[in-house]
Amino acid sequence: MKLVFLGPPGAGKGTVANAVISALGIVQISTGDLLREAVKQGTDLGRKAKAFMDAGALVPDDLVINLLKERISKPDCAKGFILDGFPRTIPQAEALEKAGVGIDKVVNFVLADSVIIRRLSGRRIHRQTGKIYNVNPGGYPAPPQGMAESDLIQRDDDKPEAIRNRLAVYARQTQPLIAFYSSRGLLADINAALEIDDIVGELKPILGF
Ligand code: AP5
Repeated sequence: MKLVFLGPPGAGKGTVANAVISALGIVQISTGDLLREAVKQGTDLGRKAKAFMDAGALVPDDLVINLLKERISKPDCAKGFILDGFPRTIPQAEALEKAGVGIDKVVNFVLADSVIIRRLSGRRIHRQTGKIYNVNPGGYPAPPQGMAESDLIQRDDDKPEAIRNRLAVYARQTQPLIAFYSSRGLLADINAALEIDDIVGELKPILGF
């Protein structure tokens, strides 16, 4: 099964993908995670991508398309995958089609900007484990009691100016993919404002698990 999780930044694509991959028996591929790893390792790609990412802009299509093609050629992708954050432009979607990657379903995460801004402002990454927490009052998932605040880091692009830019970039460059996939009969909308368990419940009949 080959799935695309489409939606604005902070809509919960990564969180929901992580919650359903074991039931589906497929892997999650986040181009954001792959790019952040390249930055961390200081590779040539990482050096080229960093400034775009910190500003909340998209990394150039050719770089991301090559990265994605290489990743989906790995053996662990044989049973299928969830593309989390790819494609993000029409040329990226066209590159998938040209490469003969047939997508079975595109899940479109629908969420208001006000909720996105709140969620992203509260998102933190645990330095040691890479796990994602949310420090907003009532945020999901809350950091465990006793976890040191200094161990929770904020992504550079989760700061207010970068969030605003990411939302504008989404509207301009990624939203056209809704019509692109809708015209191919692949799109399923999901209310991303629900709690995670309810989103997973809504996905069960759509994805058949
Ligand atoms: P990327 O890492 O893909 O960022 P994004 O799409 O902006 O997505 P996020 O990871 O911010 O959000 P998400 O939807 O996964 O939400 P999450 O589950 O974490 O990309 C980063 C950058 O890399 C881009 O800006 C670009 O520069 C570059 N890039 C990546 N792919 C590219 C591409 N294809 N082309 C070009 N450039 C590319 O949830 C957010 C928060 O909300 C968390 O704290 C979570 O705990 C919480 N939460 C989630 N769901 C719920 C819920 N239901 N209820 C309450 N809280 C929730």
